[in-house]
Amino acid sequence: VACALATRHPRSEVIAVDNLRRRGSELNLPRLRVAGVRFEHADVRDPVDLDAMGPVDAIVECSAEPSALAGRDGSTSYVVDSNLGGAHHCLELARRYHAAFVFLSTSRVYPVATQRALQLEERETRFELAAEQPVAGASEHGIAEDFPLDGARTLYGATKLAAELLVSEYRDAYGVSATVNRCGVIAGPWQMGRVDQGVFSHWVLAHHFGRPLTYIGFGGTGKQVRDLLHVDDVVDLVELQLLDRDHWDGFTANVSGGRDCSLSLVETTSICQELTGNEVEIGADPTTRPGDVPVYLGDCSRLFEHTSWRPTRGARRVLADIHSWVADNEEALAAAL
Ligand SMILES: NC(=O)c1ccc[n+]([C@@H]2O[C@H](COP(=O)([O-])OP(=O)(O)OC[C@H]3O[C@@H](n4cnc5c(N)ncnc54)[C@H](O)[C@@H]3O)[C@@H](O)[C@H]2O)c1
Repeated sequence: VACALATRHPRSEVIAVDNLRRRGSELNLPRLRVAGVRFEHADVRDPVDLDAMGPVDAIVECSAEPSALAGRDGSTSYVVDSNLGGAHHCLELARRYHAAFVFLSTSRVYPVATQRALQLEERETRFELAAEQPVAGASEHGIAEDFPLDGARTLYGATKLAAELLVSEYRDAYGVSATVNRCGVIAGPWQMGRVDQGVFSHWVLAHHFGRPLTYIGFGGTGKQVRDLLHVDDVVDLVELQLLDRDHWDGFTANVSGGRDCSLSLVETTSICQELTGNEVEIGADPTTRPGDVPVYLGDCSRLFEHTSWRPTRGARRVLADIHSWVADNEEALAAAL
């Protein structure tokens, strides 16, 4: 996001704030430099770090511990302090400077058990959502914003939803102009994929480097489905939101690839094989991990009524772009990931 905004708006100063916690995130530093982005090695958990930023007129809050398994087997402090405390500190910065605020939230705000109770149809390569569903806000097009919010949703989802609530309070109490994007899977080059987050990069990386993979959960057949959105489509949307703040102020919506831009793991495998020419060993672990859901598709009707923005890069393009990035940066990625 920072690189694209700096390149497209060379007269604006763009600052990227990151504590480089994510393995591989340091590989972004030369790109930021080339794009003319000022990099601040800072931690959103510490308000003093953010104080040093100076005046800003817009904040895109996309720092996070983004794993759905975060806090599961150990301390919960990092995920809570970064995702909720960090958002709070960024909102304080927005309040101080009357800066516009774009928050990258997540489809993980929707509760797990309710999603697992949705009616599925099993097809040859994937699960599909049935047209008739037992709850409001769900259909074959996916989950809409009126999906019930009662129930547990992982610490990741809970901290992001709690941060959404804070965003709404800061709008109301302090007039912070704010937009919330509830993103499904975002994917593309420079996502440092790992087994618990960034699954599409993880899959391409494994195929490229010939590393084994596992279909985990839901019987181990690899039929679980996610929609995906190319990072450049996200960038286009964020740019629109920053350029027309009044239109987007107070708006919360799903931002997703939807059914048209979705893949199961089995389908992802087949595209990865074509792109890389490699077949890797894929094991099966039928046990479903806590917090996992068999299908996530975002119903973006609310968003599409609000804007003419549409995702323009399909699922295959996302994987092809990830593959080109991996091939072009093979040595650095092999060492870092
Ligand atoms: N990738 C997705 O599928 C997806 C989906 C929905 C929402 N999101 C949201 O989009 C944003 C970006 O996600 P991503 O997939 O690029 O994840 P990412 O892990 O690649 O990026 C998050 C960045 O935040 C940094 N970070 C973590 N803790 C920090 C802290 N305390 N202070 C400063 N920096 C910190 C990490 O080093 C990393 O570079 C996140 O807010 C995430 O919740 C992502």
